[in-house]
Amino acid sequence: MQNHAIWVQSRVSKKQPVYQSRILLTDTDTLVIAQPYRQGRIVVYNAGATLILRASDPEQGPAAEVAVKVLERRLKPVPSLVVTRPPELDDLLADPRPGARVVAVSSGKGGVGKTTVVVNLALALAQAGHRVALIDADLGTANVDVMLKIDPLFNLSHVISGDKDLQEIMVEGPYGLHVVPGGSGLQELANLNEWQFGRLLTSLAELEKSHDLLLIDTGAGLSKNVTNFFLAADEVVVVTNPEPPATLDAYGLLKVASEQGRKHGIHLVVNRAESPSEAGMVAQKFIETAQKFLDLRVNYLGHVPTDPTVLQAIKKQQPLLVHFPQSVATSSVRRIAQALVPQEEAVPAPSVSAPRRSFFDRLRNLFANGGVA
Ligand SMILES: Nc1ncnc2c1ncn2[C@@H]1O[C@H](COP(=O)(O)OP(=O)(O)OP(=O)(O)O)[C@@H](O)[C@H]1O
Ligand SMILES: [Mg+2]
Repeated sequence: MQNHAIWVQSRVSKKQPVYQSRILLTDTDTLVIAQPYRQGRIVVYNAGATLILRASDPEQGPAAEVAVKVLERRLKPVPSLVVTRPPELDDLLADPRPGARVVAVSSGKGGVGKTTVVVNLALALAQAGHRVALIDADLGTANVDVMLKIDPLFNLSHVISGDKDLQEIMVEGPYGLHVVPGGSGLQELANLNEWQFGRLLTSLAELEKSHDLLLIDTGAGLSKNVTNFFLAADEVVVVTNPEPPATLDAYGLLKVASEQGRKHGIHLVVNRAESPSEAGMVAQKFIETAQKFLDLRVNYLGHVPTDPTVLQAIKKQQPLLVHFPQSVATSSVRRIAQALVPQEEAVPAPSVSAPRRSFFDRLRNLFANGGVA
């Protein structure tokens, strides 16, 4: 089942507002749907209530619908309703379109250049004609907006608190890049509880249908926020510097992720390299270590050299790719973009052997296995 967004209304009166929800799990006789919400407000339905589920927003025109009965309310792992499974469910939700590739960009150590890489990678892919959304999920020290010189009124903290929908906070950057701003300086967001993280992930899944790629700046380290994104994404890009503390921490992140089930779709970028050969050696050692000790296959996407234009661009709050289109760092980022999404591909597909599942399928697994915490 691919289209998991649903619209929910109480059967009692058609004048009732329509709430949004998502199917989290399907079983033989039951469905688990996310706690329905509308403009940040949730609605509580009790066991026994009859609900109408619709495949699209009825306010936008007629929509296929089915009736279900609420069996149970649940709070864990995310607030949800268990409802009866209608026989016509498959027809209601049939939607053959594949979802976006969801790529998390992370590092073990902070300050290695994740945001520099992800912002310019997103721009390179948007410029090449892909529909890209860049999500700043570095929830303690978000700064994608600073690098792109956008001054958003709202950010992910408003989505997490339920005040805004993702579509309402998304802003447009250069080349039609969609940017979902993070919540800078909001330390309380650095450790989301399961309710908040669940809400964030389900709302991110909304972007899957309208984009080819979702790139997520997850921030650094081994916090739950980082590792949960690392596990939920289709693919991950680990960014490191050539220095041993950075590569060791990157290895530590891979180790934790692999223990929790991340086995495929792992890419590596070496940033701030003095030369391609230095980067190549670092990458080779990293790949061999991951293979030998973790049994993981890591795909080397390329390197970005140490380049003064990176800092100049940051100081000007102009993205490198826009302001210094000819710099060596820009050319390197373009090569990395090409390695991640080969230009000749009409429909982007993973370049490493990751099983193709929608972001939402992964989320369902996380919820089902209690991975979100
Ligand atoms: N290729 C490069 N050449 C020169 N300087 C660089 C390069 N990449 C990054 N830097 C410098 O490193 C700093 C940190 O980069 P960036 O903010 O992208 O790292 P980060 O990994 O996102 O950090 P954090 O973990 O704090 O989010 C930048 O301000 C920039 O000055
Ligand atoms: Mg950063």
